[in-house]
Amino acid sequence: MKTYSTPAQIKVGVVGYGGAFNMGRQHLQQMKDAGMTPVAVAEVDPARLAVAMQDFPGIKTYATVAEMLEESDVELVVVITPHNTHATLGLQILDAGRHCILEKPMAITTAECDFLIDAAKKHGVTVSTYHNRHWDGWILKALDVVRSGVIGNVVRVDLRMGGHAKPGTWWRSSRSVSGGVLYDWGVHLLEYALQIITAPATEVSGYAAEGHWAAQPDAAYPNDANEDEAQLVVRFETGQRINLTITTLDATLKRGFVEIVGTKGTHLIEWGEYETTVVQPDGSRQITKAKNPPDEGYRFYQNIAAHLTAGEPLVITGEWARRPIHILDLAMQSAKQGRALPVVYP
Ligand SMILES: NC(=O)c1ccc[n+]([C@@H]2O[C@H](COP(=O)([O-])OP(=O)(O)OC[C@H]3O[C@@H](n4cnc5c(N)ncnc54)[C@H](O)[C@@H]3O)[C@@H](O)[C@H]2O)c1
Repeated sequence: MKTYSTPAQIKVGVVGYGGAFNMGRQHLQQMKDAGMTPVAVAEVDPARLAVAMQDFPGIKTYATVAEMLEESDVELVVVITPHNTHATLGLQILDAGRHCILEKPMAITTAECDFLIDAAKKHGVTVSTYHNRHWDGWILKALDVVRSGVIGNVVRVDLRMGGHAKPGTWWRSSRSVSGGVLYDWGVHLLEYALQIITAPATEVSGYAAEGHWAAQPDAAYPNDANEDEAQLVVRFETGQRINLTITTLDATLKRGFVEIVGTKGTHLIEWGEYETTVVQPDGSRQITKAKNPPDEGYRFYQNIAAHLTAGEPLVITGEWARRPIHILDLAMQSAKQGRALPVVYP
């Protein structure tokens, strides 16, 4: 594998410098903070390239990833574009012998993840996915609670997000671009749950409701809308399960977006605080509520830099990033076929 003596030798660039959340700036800044050297930005929108030049004076800009790969000596490229472009752009980068990090979701299908992982192996470079939320304060706290044994053995993890709300007009609401309603926050939530339940998954059932928002007269994507609501259940060898729902139709969504149910209690994560309920031997409840600890997502790029310089094991491997995508891919097929589908590990 291509490695370096110091993080500063790793010249980094991004593809996509969008304005929705200023993610291009966040990536370049975090890579810089981890000691790496920002050198290049590729973006199809000239106005956003102008913003990148203001944010990082002297950075080289390109209208396409092909020009960037041809003209720049960038060593590591991050893809921060709409979901349906990840696999093609990632393959272009890996085939040019550069390390590649894809924003989440790694890609839309299992097959796309597999060809990205294979291409990285073939060219002796690293492929990873920016699962910065792996280090969110609330999930780090939840893992501490689970590992302490205070809520007993984990029986299931329920994850839910949304409400009753009309989808926006941005690309995230277009199914062919986003992958579907589960592919945005759903990927973060699944990645949380897969840290909590580590047993092998055996099968996935998916469910979808659609057509409500797409039928409204002002629908942004009448023929290409996300599902109004989608849900999946993952069964594990241990009998444990994950239950994920992302909805735009639920007027009374239950409070808390992550709920870990154990044999002795429940840990609930809300935006501001967490709540751990432990059932005492006399049947009474001991409830602990506290503020969620701060996020540590910057550790993602610290790990990437340490991996490429000192051989530190990669936390978010291509294979790890493939796991939630395989589950989403199976859930989409399962919803269409009306039956559970088996999980296939590479
Ligand atoms: N990890 C997180 O916390 C987090 C947060 C927000 C977004 N994201 C992810 O980041 C990615 C981008 O989302 P966003 O909100 O920044 O979107 P965005 O629409 O703000 O930005 C996307 C940018 O990509 C550019 N682009 C599209 N195709 C391109 C191409 N072929 N070459 C070069 N540039 C191209 C667009 O012009 C646009 O400026 C998505 O995968 C999203 O899920 C992750």
